[in-house]
Amino acid sequence: MNRLRTSLSIFALLFAGNILAQTTIIKADPAADGPTISKHIYGHFAEHLGRCIYGGFYVGEDSEIPNTAGVRMDVVEALKAMKIPNLRWPGGCFADTYHWKDGIGPKEDRPSILNIWWGNVREDNSFGTHEFLNMCELLETEPYLSANVGSGTPQEFADWIKYTTHPAGSSPMPELREKNGRKEPWKVKFWGVGNEAWGCGGNMTPEYYSDVYRRFSTFSTDWANSDGLVRIASGASSSDYNWTEVLMKNIPKNLIEAIALHHYSVIDWGNKGPATGFTEEQYFTIMERALHMEELIVKHVAIMDKYDPEKKVALFVDEWGGWYDVEPGTNPGFLYQQNTMRDAMVAGVTLNIFNNHADRVKMANLAQAVNVLQAVVLTEGERMLLTPTYHVMKMYNVHHEAQLVPLSFVAPQFIYEDRELPAVSASASVDAENLLHLSLVNIDSRQSHTVEIDLSAFDLKKISGTILSGESLDDHNTFDSPENITTKAFNGATLTNGKVKLSLPPFSVVVLEGAK
Ligand code: AHR
Repeated sequence: MNRLRTSLSIFALLFAGNILAQTTIIKADPAADGPTISKHIYGHFAEHLGRCIYGGFYVGEDSEIPNTAGVRMDVVEALKAMKIPNLRWPGGCFADTYHWKDGIGPKEDRPSILNIWWGNVREDNSFGTHEFLNMCELLETEPYLSANVGSGTPQEFADWIKYTTHPAGSSPMPELREKNGRKEPWKVKFWGVGNEAWGCGGNMTPEYYSDVYRRFSTFSTDWANSDGLVRIASGASSSDYNWTEVLMKNIPKNLIEAIALHHYSVIDWGNKGPATGFTEEQYFTIMERALHMEELIVKHVAIMDKYDPEKKVALFVDEWGGWYDVEPGTNPGFLYQQNTMRDAMVAGVTLNIFNNHADRVKMANLAQAVNVLQAVVLTEGERMLLTPTYHVMKMYNVHHEAQLVPLSFVAPQFIYEDRELPAVSASASVDAENLLHLSLVNIDSRQSHTVEIDLSAFDLKKISGTILSGESLDDHNTFDSPENITTKAFNGATLTNGKVKLSLPPFSVVVLEGAK
């Protein structure tokens, strides 16, 4: 009997120890003066690529699909509901082949060009500056125009700024705008000075591009930048730290407001693997690539801090996301891929990283909004679906313009063979209504993880939540089954003496809301 009691208590101890070992304790720091999380971290990107613009956003006025001036309203309503804060256009690589004057005036007079980067298809320029900026008004989002530096001129760039933003009648460009049907200027603050200048934007060296940038930027506005432009230098690809170093050193601070960074989660450019039906190893590798964003930001920011300790120049991660093989049978140049719970994991951890670096990361743009790469919306004819990534973006919109609450914790491990990753990722903020929001991701494909967050300093009275999870990592929405993956209310969090405890199911995203 005694022996049984002893072994039972040893078992109880071991069991309790195991539970304790598995509970991740998260500390929230309410006293810290956290930065505001810019809503622009939740930005998007629309390129003239595959079916992003044509068929995705734009179907033309004669379409049977309900539209306003050719822009499909189902997509507009979905993106508005997600609170899309900005939209980058027209590229991408396409931007450095795009001459904006081809896309204004009567459509029948607009010249066609060949879209050399994306499938060599004919671009008829029926979707141009007016169509894009009017669409941004419909979406209630801020436009980000990416200008042609690679094959354009400083004059074209300066003219585009005047055409879109200068007051009616103030100079020939606004007069031309008025002639084309728009009297009042649009509000366009964000201007990309080229794209991927190290590659499709001109294969430049950072030294050469710095000089080109200085030239284009000089003619963009007046001495004092009284147009209030945010000029964005084409930034590094992933870990090309030398690119950031040279630009930060060579570009005077009065000519630049932001520097970009592009990082895609891709297994191998020559063998990307499928968007669905991937292996566990492929999943793990994609999560390694996505979590690499943390190191990239830390290292690029360290370089920026050296040249700009006051943090006047922002870091814009204006292209990011998962990149896989195209769906079988689709045009390889159109980059159309499905979107699964794996993508929800990529989105969840990446957005947490951006939130946690909100002091320098002021914008990010998921590539791309509709029908291309890690899209939030897919369309097929008149049908539309919302992807798991859409749901994460919508769940996280509670962080827009909220104050970051720094968190500290040691994450449990997610182990695959001899490789390991942090299983749990988190970020938190307090909004203008004093609501606390925590976004938590468990990327572990097999195990739940229990977390306990000490929020006693916030004096919370109730906690509620939303969850995105699935049966399998490969789960996704289809046009026949568009609601396979959707958010659900999450009632699994307990609040005791200011401590919130919950178990995060395998590959899940949970957003909690704490109210006083
Ligand atoms: O998003 C697709 C392409 O990826 C963009 O056009 C380019 O900037 C990047 O290489």
